[in-house]
Amino acid sequence: MEEVIKRYNELVDFLNKCDHYYYVLDNPIISDEEYDKLKLELIDIERKYPNIIRPDSPSQRVGFEPSKEFKEAYHVEKMLSLENANNEEEIIEWVRKIKKEYKDIRFILEPKFDGTSLELVYIGGILKYAITRGDGIKGEDVTNNAKTIKTIPLKLFEENIKRIDVRGEVLISKEDFKKLNEELLSIEGRTFANPRNAAAGSLRQLDPNITAKRKLTFIAWGVGYYEGIEISTQYELLNMLSKLGFKVSHPFKVCKDEQEIIDFYREIQSKRDSFLFELDGIVIKVNEFEIQRSLGSTIRSPRWSIAAKFPALERTSRIIDIMYQVGRMGIITPVAILEPVEIGGVTVSRVSLHNFDIISKLDIKIGDYVYVRRAGDVIPEITSVIKERRSNNEKEVQAPKYCPACNSEVIKDGAYYKCINLSCPERLANHIEYIGKILEIEGLGKSTAQKLVELKLVKDIADIFYLEYHDILKLPNFAEVSSRKLYNEIQKVKAGISLEKFIMLLGIPSIGKANAKALANKFKTIENFLNCKFDELISISGIGDEIANNVLKFIMENRGIVEKILKSGLKVVNGEEKKKTSSFFYNKKVVITGELSQFKREEALKLLETIGAIPSNSISKKTDYLIVGKNPGSKLEKAKEYRVKIINEEEFYEILKSEGFLQ
Ligand code: IVH
Repeated sequence: MEEVIKRYNELVDFLNKCDHYYYVLDNPIISDEEYDKLKLELIDIERKYPNIIRPDSPSQRVGFEPSKEFKEAYHVEKMLSLENANNEEEIIEWVRKIKKEYKDIRFILEPKFDGTSLELVYIGGILKYAITRGDGIKGEDVTNNAKTIKTIPLKLFEENIKRIDVRGEVLISKEDFKKLNEELLSIEGRTFANPRNAAAGSLRQLDPNITAKRKLTFIAWGVGYYEGIEISTQYELLNMLSKLGFKVSHPFKVCKDEQEIIDFYREIQSKRDSFLFELDGIVIKVNEFEIQRSLGSTIRSPRWSIAAKFPALERTSRIIDIMYQVGRMGIITPVAILEPVEIGGVTVSRVSLHNFDIISKLDIKIGDYVYVRRAGDVIPEITSVIKERRSNNEKEVQAPKYCPACNSEVIKDGAYYKCINLSCPERLANHIEYIGKILEIEGLGKSTAQKLVELKLVKDIADIFYLEYHDILKLPNFAEVSSRKLYNEIQKVKAGISLEKFIMLLGIPSIGKANAKALANKFKTIENFLNCKFDELISISGIGDEIANNVLKFIMENRGIVEKILKSGLKVVNGEEKKKTSSFFYNKKVVITGELSQFKREEALKLLETIGAIPSNSISKKTDYLIVGKNPGSKLEKAKEYRVKIINEEEFYEILKSEGFLQ
């Protein structure tokens, strides 16, 4: 047992060190494979000896049950906010006011990353609580969620600090924010307005497993209550936090002159776009804690610090035209085509107007000068029309009578105009792209979806599941290997998808991820779902009369397409769906020789293809496995010569059984 504990401690310490180098220092010290191997060893020990699990084990970062709500938790020291300085004059005014009282004072300058603030309470070096700012006096206890953030140490590098309440910002990178919004838009039809909201929303998920999937980062910028450490300046604090294992607000700089402060403000502003995270200014702080204490605070904010904000990312441009886009549900979205304008380093020339209510609310006309805002990397939006610049030659925006893609008549549905032609090419291509996304079919992105529709290889959504290797080969940019790969990906999906995903892929109006999940939980099987009743539907929380009617109407009108999908051989499984890449044979080149007792050769090859293998008839140096049946041919000798791994019939069946492909 002693040996096990020794090895266990080694694993926890080493894996934590690896995480620190990877996530905090951006400097990996181990390969992903090696890391995964050690983590599996750790999990195995923890499964056998749950009593020895350490609170700072990497396994403790995920796996907590979703809670019903967050508990309230108090900050020992109040978490204040900052006053703003909105331009250089206001910065200089603030600095001079302080300097009047404290002549030889030092300031420290830090970037102001735009996220959501969080306090982490470490007792004896171990993370005990994570509390959101809330009203500054009490916030929400989000400890289980915070533990999923890899840049939050579960244990500090220095353990004998009695207590330290570390404060900082939870952030999502601009790139991950964009990816998250694309995913949310296509799956749930909603987006976060900016990275700050995305970080706050992700941190406050009731299910920590969702927080874990959103790539959040913690950057430390201060302390609340502490006991057992001696520090006297913010500069020392940031260095100490870094040594304890945190990423800190960086670059920071100590200085004394107004000019140095303005130079730093300008420098960070000019580099604003090159930061991974959204910035909305710099923070200027008095460096000495002693002077901070004597300056004190108002009820809202400290007098020893100020946020020097950067100008908002808003510019003017002119609407040249309004175009229409058809979404996967047939909704026609107006898009303003603008005279290109650079906002915060990005050229904006198209802005979605979402729906026609917005056009009338903002009174938008073609030819209008408008204010365009792009808060960081957020989808740009038109905030208002500059009516003073109208020349009276502006043209009214006409709602479309016919679909811009298929010319069929358009219907009005609330604020939306809709194309109701199910085989409208733009609508279908968007639907296929969406299916590729939710079923994680690698290679089935936007351009492939468009080409499949354009070449009439796909005339409805069911056709995706009937595509043959030779069909895919007809697409531009698809060669043998890529066609085989996409074909395999589709076969793998057909081997088993969950009812939730199946319901999602149909594209029923108002059924996004959450509602599809609720429907799948209620009905369990595809048969039950297709025979659902109004009363059963409205008994599900979140589903009211309108959604229930949408579901019933959809099932009635689209039974044919649903049956066509099922006839393709696509299996809807209860519970866990088969993981596409989990198969032993996934992406492996496999050859069969001799007779198999349970399959004809063609059947076995087809099955291998279905589970993602690349079957072949001849042995080469690149072959991964040779499956050997009775009376093998010359392939066996060749395989031995090339040192190809040999699998006998029994082993082959065992692998298939263990993966659930054979009874
Ligand atoms: S110090 C007493 N430093 O900005 C409050 N805040 O607008 C001390 N923020 O609530 C805050 N980067 O969430 C500080 N380097 C930094 C910061 C920073 C971002 C956030 C923080 C604060 C908000 C105020």
